[in-house]
Amino acid sequence: MLFKSKDNYKNKKSLIIYFSRGDENYAVGYIDKGNTEVIAEYIKDLTNADMIKIEPKIPYAKDYDTCIKEAKERQKNHKAFITKEIGDITPYDVIYIGSPVYWSYMPEELVTALKGIDFSNKIIRPFVTHEGSNLGDIPNQIKDICKNATVLDGLAIKGSMVNGSKLKVEEWL
Ligand SMILES: Cc1cc2nc3c(=O)[nH]c(=O)nc-3n(C[C@H](O)[C@H](O)[C@H](O)COP(=O)(O)O)c2cc1C
Repeated sequence: MLFKSKDNYKNKKSLIIYFSRGDENYAVGYIDKGNTEVIAEYIKDLTNADMIKIEPKIPYAKDYDTCIKEAKERQKNHKAFITKEIGDITPYDVIYIGSPVYWSYMPEELVTALKGIDFSNKIIRPFVTHEGSNLGDIPNQIKDICKNATVLDGLAIKGSMVNGSKLKVEEWL
């Protein structure tokens, strides 16, 4: 189900699924709102999409150094629990999946959330924030996990540059 022009994607029934962590992070210090969440909100503004934030059952530490240890451990063991499942995606045509880049991949909570869902007939548009890795291997990871989806080109924005990047998001949409 590929549409003819980008305008058609923008006007389809859309859902944004994203993970984002505030607190202390690389290059930005302590922030109240995570970088990926800023982009998710731009997309919501521009497309009127519904939004689901994936929340870890065990919150990550507020300080960056402890957080990276926890994140690495959860990715290595493929073990990360979430507070709430995604639920029924049947009504949606286009699904935006938003993630920070953690060593080329998504935080394990997003993997937990996406696993086992049937994405037949769904268009996925990945977006990530990062500090140098660009998209990393996240589009391929999404292709592996999100069974039967059509995964389109992703958008990568530097976490420290999210404020003021709305135009870039609009161009990508
Ligand atoms: C645990 C952890 C691992 C990270 N690994 C990478 C990485 O490998 N490459 C990169 O470019 N940025 C990396 N970053 C930076 C984040 O991808 C970046 O700050 C992102 O914008 C965070 O998004 P968020 O605020 O929505 O959680 C890492 C950050 C954390 C906390």
